[in-house]
Amino acid sequence: MFSQAAKLKEIVQKKKEKMLENSGDNNSIRHKSRARTIAIASGKGGVGKSTLTVNLAYNLARLKKKVLIIDSDIGMANLDIMLDISPIYDMGHLLRGECTLQEAIVKDPSGISILSGITGDDTFIDLNTDMMNKIINIAGEMEKDYDYLLIDLGAGAGKNIVSTILSAEELLLVLTTEPTSVMDSYSLIKILAKYNFDKSVKLVLNQVDRKKDAQKTAERMKKTVKKYLNIELDLVGQISHDRNISTAVKKQRPFSEIYAGRSAAEDFEKLAKKISGEEGEKQSKGVKSYFYKMIGFFNSSRK
Ligand SMILES: Nc1ncnc2c1ncn2[C@@H]1O[C@H](COP(=O)(O)OP(=O)(O)OP(=O)(O)O)[C@@H](O)[C@H]1O
Ligand SMILES: [Mg+2]
Repeated sequence: MFSQAAKLKEIVQKKKEKMLENSGDNNSIRHKSRARTIAIASGKGGVGKSTLTVNLAYNLARLKKKVLIIDSDIGMANLDIMLDISPIYDMGHLLRGECTLQEAIVKDPSGISILSGITGDDTFIDLNTDMMNKIINIAGEMEKDYDYLLIDLGAGAGKNIVSTILSAEELLLVLTTEPTSVMDSYSLIKILAKYNFDKSVKLVLNQVDRKKDAQKTAERMKKTVKKYLNIELDLVGQISHDRNISTAVKKQRPFSEIYAGRSAAEDFEKLAKKISGEEGEKQSKGVKSYFYKMIGFFNSSRK
């Protein structure tokens, strides 16, 4: 694993040098902050991760942010149905060189871009220099083209899910006020703590009927998680329960687009503003860092 990581670093260094050479003048490099990589996860299934991903992406796009969703809920293809898209390629095709990034990404008319995740681990079996080169190139392209990578995960704490959460720079943890959802969220955080997870967890309470209840749930969790796991929780959003969210899924459009003005749409907008308002608080590590870490996890799990 060490030699592969070293090789990868060497590739990146060479690329950086080449970029400087080609630019002729360091000042001519476009100064865009690195993309933020945000994993969207939950302990319990069906709490609203994909709904949140789509509507957060929609509202960030309205704030002029370039957003790429990676649909990592392998085999479920929920986003395809939610947005009525039919991707031909996935990340596996991309990494195996069977398509370009542009071909693999599907664009929704609302301005969101979607890339389907890898549908099998076999893609990484031959993680040779050529493939690492490809990954770095792809990461570089994503870095150039996007401000946000939102990674919509499946539920639970499976190996791939935990690796993705630990590789991404930020974690949005979606839950409801139901005790089962709270318990499963706690279990997921406990697993992350075992891996020395050292970031704060951004909680989004979804399907909220009374904001007071959501606040209480978050406060209770915050205290317990701080006391037993020494991890900070930050309640960043509360999304109202709205039956029209299900109607929007049936109409295959983002809820925020067709039900603008409703309370839940305002909640999604508020969340997008809060998240984008954090920009500049600290320099993001970007897309390459995310892929480096993913490769590291993959390599260590092969041993
Ligand atoms: N705020 C809300 N109000 C009402 N219904 C909602 C809300 N958010 C999500 N839902 C509904 O809850 C169901 C699950 O939502 P969604 O598919 O987004 O969950 P998920 O966490 O991605 O599920 P999975 O774990 O299967 O990937 C859907 O029927 C959706 O319409
Ligand atoms: Mg989902």
